[in-house]
Amino acid sequence: SEVTYLNYDVLSDFGWQTDDERLFRKAADEDFGEVDYGQFRVRPGESLLEAAEERGFAWPFACRGGACANCAILLLEGELSMPSSHVLPAELMERGFRLSCNGMPITDELKVVYNVKHMPELDDLLL
Ligand code: FES
Repeated sequence: SEVTYLNYDVLSDFGWQTDDERLFRKAADEDFGEVDYGQFRVRPGESLLEAAEERGFAWPFACRGGACANCAILLLEGELSMPSSHVLPAELMERGFRLSCNGMPITDELKVVYNVKHMPELDDLLL
């Protein structure tokens, strides 16, 4: 799978919204470094977090076991499979929040905003 990622810090800095249909096009037009915006491949059997780390990125995490939400991402395109036992409530799952520590891509392409633990929706879940 090919993942295109964007750092949530960029959204807060620029005042961009996660529901902006042009979000990733706007990001592509900026001259962001690869920490904030880019693409990488995820191999079968790799979680999204493992793949990011493998490519040299330091994405947030803490427990690595689905229990803390520090590794949360927001999916804007594609899908990740996740084990059934984890900390995210159904309403956040419906809105596209997933965990990168145990989420494995099941679509060829994904667009994700990472570092979303700073979104107010996740305040109550962070340990
Ligand atoms: Fe804690 Fe992913 S690192 S849920």
